[in-house]
Amino acid sequence: MAEKEKQNIAVLLEEKRVFNPPEDLVRNSNVKKWMDEHGIKSYEELLEKAKDIEWFWAEVAKDVVEWYEPYKKVLEWNPPYAEWFVGAKYNIVHDALDKHMETDVKDKVAYIFEGEPGDTKQLTYHDLYVEVNKLANALKELGIKKGDRVGIYLPMIPELPIAMLACAKIGAIHSVVFSGFSALALRDRINDCEAKAVITCDSFYRRGNKVALKKQADEALEDAPSVEHCIVYRRTGDEVPWNEGRDLWWHDIVKDQPEECETEKMDANDPLYFLYTSGTTGKPKGIIHRHGGYAVGIATTLKWVFDLKKNDVWWCAADVGWVTGHSYIVYAPLILGVTSVIYEGAPNYPEPDRWWEIIEKYKVSVLYTSPTSIRLFMRYGEEWVNKHNLSSLRLLGSVGEPINPEAWIWYHKNIGKEKCPIMDTWWQTETGHFLITPLPITPLKPGSATKPFPGIQADVFDENGKSITNAGGNLVILKPWPGMLKGLYKAPERYKETYWSKFKDVYLAGDVARKDEDGYFWIQGRADDVLNVSGHRIGNSEVESALVSHPKVAEAAVVGKPHELKGEAIVAFVALKSGVEPSEELKKELREHVGVQMGKIARPDEIWFVNDLPKTRSGKIMRRVIRAKALGQDVGDTSTLANPEAVEEISKAV
Ligand code: PRX
Repeated sequence: MAEKEKQNIAVLLEEKRVFNPPEDLVRNSNVKKWMDEHGIKSYEELLEKAKDIEWFWAEVAKDVVEWYEPYKKVLEWNPPYAEWFVGAKYNIVHDALDKHMETDVKDKVAYIFEGEPGDTKQLTYHDLYVEVNKLANALKELGIKKGDRVGIYLPMIPELPIAMLACAKIGAIHSVVFSGFSALALRDRINDCEAKAVITCDSFYRRGNKVALKKQADEALEDAPSVEHCIVYRRTGDEVPWNEGRDLWWHDIVKDQPEECETEKMDANDPLYFLYTSGTTGKPKGIIHRHGGYAVGIATTLKWVFDLKKNDVWWCAADVGWVTGHSYIVYAPLILGVTSVIYEGAPNYPEPDRWWEIIEKYKVSVLYTSPTSIRLFMRYGEEWVNKHNLSSLRLLGSVGEPINPEAWIWYHKNIGKEKCPIMDTWWQTETGHFLITPLPITPLKPGSATKPFPGIQADVFDENGKSITNAGGNLVILKPWPGMLKGLYKAPERYKETYWSKFKDVYLAGDVARKDEDGYFWIQGRADDVLNVSGHRIGNSEVESALVSHPKVAEAAVVGKPHELKGEAIVAFVALKSGVEPSEELKKELREHVGVQMGKIARPDEIWFVNDLPKTRSGKIMRRVIRAKALGQDVGDTSTLANPEAVEEISKAV
């Protein structure tokens, strides 16, 4: 980080209000019960005791997972690699499905599905078990085996979890690609992991329209030599292009399959899935998660933070295409045997009260969403909320980006009716599960993710690795945790460089945070060149590469700018090739081009044409200077600039 930027990490928030959780919620909470059983009297004592991380994680593991064969060692820590529950034989699907067939969870609803057009479907744990087994058998018949990679490109329909679980069941590694990503984004991801098969659907409903997913998958598959089969689920019944020999209908291949399928006994540290996430270079990183420790981490955090019990109806309103959905729509709720809601469509379709209608209809008791969605609903106003009875709600959650105190208070008052605590959970694709988060026993400060979960040791370091209080600095995690990534697929050096090179044997999260005098963490945003748009990570350089791939573009620089709704907006400065005339039409064309390259979510909000971009003498584009100019801030030290006049161009442009 540049010198000036370091100094700019300022303390941004000074929020003093404290909200205590309701007493009966505390008294009856899962975490309180566990504390009582372990003779622990207070939150502080719990945090203190859990500093013995091997004891803590081994102890909580007993409540959530069943190993086929026990582990020999809780933790093997060879920085930067950690192995948890070493030597255990395990498969996460045993806990998510198989074990429930022996209990009354078997006939309980696992997923309540609500399609955007209003069609609904409920799947019990047994239904899900059968569907998963049939697909798993079909995959085996197609020659897919342990260790093979399968790309999954599906919208928010129950077949997405079914496909993931079927892969995991036979020991194949799934790589889910968000259905909002473009064909080219899909192509890069399936090629990177050399997927043997891709699972998709004909099309799906979004904001009253249909999105032709199979068509997009076909485009990706034109240049994906490893893919032997494309399995297509029929969601809408639309006609689809067909590639004889490669394409197979889901319903055809599962039709005659047996309803039982043996679950592959994996090593606890074998990979469960890859999930690609943006970093500071143009190439997304393939995060690797595993079966064993991941299961312990996600299930324990969900059970304690959102206090899920037998009768709860849980709605994590994220998309399964992101880590939030992987951990907290698919694996953790199933391990806990709870009922979850899956909704296919847009939050404001057909009207801005669709979510509140769903909550009332299914008596949702815990809602987990993002600050962007909350701000969207704030904008529509309380009258949409007040049309519905939300009294079933008892806890609320937030994730993905810092929640501004104003949105926190609105959420607390209008959705939670001042009786539901808000769990602001900080975590990342890499961490697998919540690391900094309140528990139902934690006094809350609006805008703060509060304290590390028991067993997690976090801190804020200055540039020299010194722990600091009440000043902005680098958010770090000091000890390994069970859901920690196994590394980056085919990129061990990048793994070390990105997370472990700044401070020795300490995990660098890449976020700027402040720790206050009570040890509460206030996350302020990314420290690196990664944007956070509506809680989704997008690398500046990925958008730049997409722009530069347009034949009329010579160079591009992308920066983030605060946005009322989305947290951050994408602003692009583009230098065109000589002879190309700038125009509003071209701006539109470039926006669409980025949409095609990456997906709609990455389309720049603003595009400005310039003749030149500020660069160092070695030719590196200085985003820091561009960002400062675009935001009207002091640009700081520009002595290393090769072309100071380009800075003036930026200010003229905006
Ligand atoms: O900057 C932090 C922000 O989202 C980043 C992680 O993004 P991703 O891997 O896509 O995972 C998002 C869902 C877990 C973090 O580095 N972030 C996540 N949760 C919070 C947050 N920022 C502030 N408060 C949060 N609760």
